[in-house]
Amino acid sequence: MQLHKSIGLVGVLLASAATAQTFQRLGACPTLGCVFPPDQADFLAGQYFDIRLEVHAPINGSEATSLMPDEEFTFTIAKGNGSAVAATEYFGLSEPELERWNFSWYEDLFARDAKKPSIVNVTAKAYRRVALYEPGEYTATLTYNSGEKTVATWFVRDLAEERKTKNVIIFIGDGMTTNMITAARLIAHKTVNGKYMTKMQMDKFPILGHQMTHSIDTFITDSANSASALYTGHKSTVNCLGVYADSSKDPFDDPKVETIAELFHRLTGGHVGIVSTAYIADATPAALTAHTRDRGQYGAVVDSFLNGITNYTWTSWGGPDVLFGGGAEQFYSPELGGETYMGKDYYQEFANKGYQVIWNNTALQAASSEEKTLGIFSVSNMAKWLDRNVYKTNLNQSLSPSGDESMALDQPGLKEMTLKALDILIKRSGDKGFFLMSEAASIDKMMHVLDYDRALGELLELDDTVKATIAKLEDECLLKETLILVTADHGHGFDVMGSVDTKYLAAQNTDRKKRDAVGTYQRSGLSQYINTGNLTYTDSNFPSNWDPRYTLFQGLMADPDRRETWSVRKDGPREPAVAQDEEEEDFIANPEDGEGGILLNGTLPIEDDQGVHSLTDVPVFAMGPCQEKFGGVYNSIDIFFGMAECLGLARGKPSGY
Ligand SMILES: *[C@@H]1O[C@H](CO)[C@@H](O)[C@H](O)[C@H]1NC(C)=O
Ligand SMILES: *[C@@H]1O[C@H](CO)[C@@H](O)[C@H](O)[C@H]1NC(C)=O
Ligand SMILES: *[C@@H]1O[C@H](CO)[C@@H](O)[C@H](O)[C@H]1NC(C)=O
Ligand SMILES: *[C@@H]1O[C@H](CO)[C@@H](O)[C@H](O)[C@H]1NC(C)=O
Ligand SMILES: *[C@@H]1O[C@H](CO)[C@@H](O)[C@H](O)[C@H]1NC(C)=O
Ligand SMILES: *[C@@H]1O[C@H](CO)[C@@H](O)[C@H](O)[C@H]1NC(C)=O
Ligand SMILES: *[C@@H]1O[C@H](CO)[C@@H](O)[C@H](O)[C@H]1NC(C)=O
Ligand SMILES: *[C@@H]1O[C@H](CO)[C@@H](O)[C@H](O)[C@H]1NC(C)=O
Ligand SMILES: *[C@@H]1O[C@H](CO)[C@@H](O)[C@H](O)[C@H]1NC(C)=O
Ligand SMILES: [Zn+2]
Repeated sequence: MQLHKSIGLVGVLLASAATAQTFQRLGACPTLGCVFPPDQADFLAGQYFDIRLEVHAPINGSEATSLMPDEEFTFTIAKGNGSAVAATEYFGLSEPELERWNFSWYEDLFARDAKKPSIVNVTAKAYRRVALYEPGEYTATLTYNSGEKTVATWFVRDLAEERKTKNVIIFIGDGMTTNMITAARLIAHKTVNGKYMTKMQMDKFPILGHQMTHSIDTFITDSANSASALYTGHKSTVNCLGVYADSSKDPFDDPKVETIAELFHRLTGGHVGIVSTAYIADATPAALTAHTRDRGQYGAVVDSFLNGITNYTWTSWGGPDVLFGGGAEQFYSPELGGETYMGKDYYQEFANKGYQVIWNNTALQAASSEEKTLGIFSVSNMAKWLDRNVYKTNLNQSLSPSGDESMALDQPGLKEMTLKALDILIKRSGDKGFFLMSEAASIDKMMHVLDYDRALGELLELDDTVKATIAKLEDECLLKETLILVTADHGHGFDVMGSVDTKYLAAQNTDRKKRDAVGTYQRSGLSQYINTGNLTYTDSNFPSNWDPRYTLFQGLMADPDRRETWSVRKDGPREPAVAQDEEEEDFIANPEDGEGGILLNGTLPIEDDQGVHSLTDVPVFAMGPCQEKFGGVYNSIDIFFGMAECLGLARGKPSGY
């Protein structure tokens, strides 16, 4: 992997900037002059992006300057050791309009508690839709306040115009870590005397890499900016989809970067599929087409799937061939309680553009593979594997995708959605090839609510889906022309430390005595989730018993208050903590969760009712053309560059440009 020499930001660093930690004036901009994309940004040759410049004048607080924000700042670009030229000249653009705004922030928790925000006056400009075509190093220089400079060194990676793979499939296990894969293997695959008789499909991939998931300005990421890094090659800020965060209030004016789906479609006419078990406007699917500072703009996200970037088109996006997931409330009309972009009925909007629209697994199986297809199978997140397959009465909820409050009993799983997506993409893309993103979203969602069993069920379903995908590609003679990646966007601090005798635990009367039910080291025993008395080779991919007496002693590094029984929750996904005040700022263990278990007090801030993401690197499994690019330890953005280079998307300047 490319290591960049650290040039750093030139200019006067204010003493207080070093303390900008819990709260930041503006991430990735420690000085008063901001350049986005910032120092150390990497670019794919020919990738569209916007440039945002800001000059800050803090009016009060410890950084206070007496200056009004500069209106006369200048911005130049130099290629290599060449001379610096004005960006307008470099890109052939006219000078953008000067914009002004102000914003406030807290310097630390004391300032927050005292309700003493610091106010910053801003002048700004944006250069929209530019690209760099020549590989190498560039120097972008903002000069402001009569001679202060912010210098950003940018790197355009080498050209890769030759296409080495026809298709790319990226599976994202949201929040999935090596520890979770290890636990899933333990409950679903049989061991004899310490040896596995069967393995996970992921275990059989030829290449294993580790990616670092940090954000641009924080070491813990969320799924929006981690997905953006995977799809654009640019790190960003928590809650950002396909943009760098600027300081303006408008969540849609932040500087955009083109995604792998947009590039692939624009440059090759390739076909795109998007599949997730989450509501489809959620961050991991959204980051393929949406460009906003606020991942919560769900209506606009759905519009971006269909129409491209709202009010700002840089590509004649015709929408993906396949869009499968949950989140019906962002589609059906507001008359039924939908919350849609500009009050439209998005089932109708998609149908108007030639999509077949389906709402259940029966219709999915029967659907034509020749048409673009929108499949929305429930309100909110889709049902979990454990509820669809084992505790089916939990499907009895008013979540029909039609919006009529009937039940969504006939939901497909990740495997059914992914296999149908492949049918459609194979049929429709012909020689153009396809890009498919398939997300097991509820590994993360169930880890957040400490529902370890459901999370591991989702992980096993992902593995089962990968296995079925490989078999299908083999049948279609496409395995050698398809790069398959299985990775995650971040982790949770999950691990297994032993076993629990749930019968003994339930029989004890005090929390201290209950702790003796935990078996560590030699008392941990063997996994009871598979039929241990039977040495016959089985290859079912899932546990045969989710409710054994001896369960896993498993958990997260950071929690809200909760009550642990370490037993499967048969009544549906867990709710570990509940608010004890109306403002929902003080969460305690849910008295209705984990009856007879041990009360464990949390370590997270009391306004958190869920577990949180963690720092760990996450695995990358690769097979197919270019698989060798994905071995070793590297940054999340390198996944984008690996996929884009394998698809031949790093292009020099088109002739006649
Ligand atoms: C902030 O900018 C506004 C103009 O947008 C100006 O009226 C105001 O005086 C500025 N405040 C300070 C303290 O410079
Ligand atoms: C600039 O020139 C120096 C000396 O010739 C050379 O070492 C360096 O690599 C050049 N930098 C770039 C970015 O081309
Ligand atoms: C901040 O901007 C608002 C308008 O958006 C203006 O009303 C207000 O006076 C400004 N505050 C300062 C301190 O300049
Ligand atoms: C900065 O000014 C704002 C608006 O006048 C005020 O609310 C805030 O308390 C001030 N902050 C500090 C740190 O003085
Ligand atoms: C897009 O433009 C329309 C019409 O001008 C406007 O009503 C809408 O709010 C804009 N949407 C966004 C996300 O900027
Ligand atoms: C599936 O959806 C179709 C409409 O697309 C409906 O006619 C059918 O009854 C549904 N089937 C089930 C099992 O819900
Ligand atoms: C669904 O649950 C409700 C209440 O929990 C119950 O009254 C109803 O009979 C259940 N319906 C089915 C089809 O199981
Ligand atoms: C062992 O497992 C196999 C495959 O699941 C099954 O067919 C067989 O009945 C089992 N035998 C016993 C003794 O449980
Ligand atoms: C543990 O949390 C409970 C609420 O869930 C609270 O009542 C109790 O005081 C806490 N104990 C400690 C030692 O903080
Ligand atoms: Zn999460």
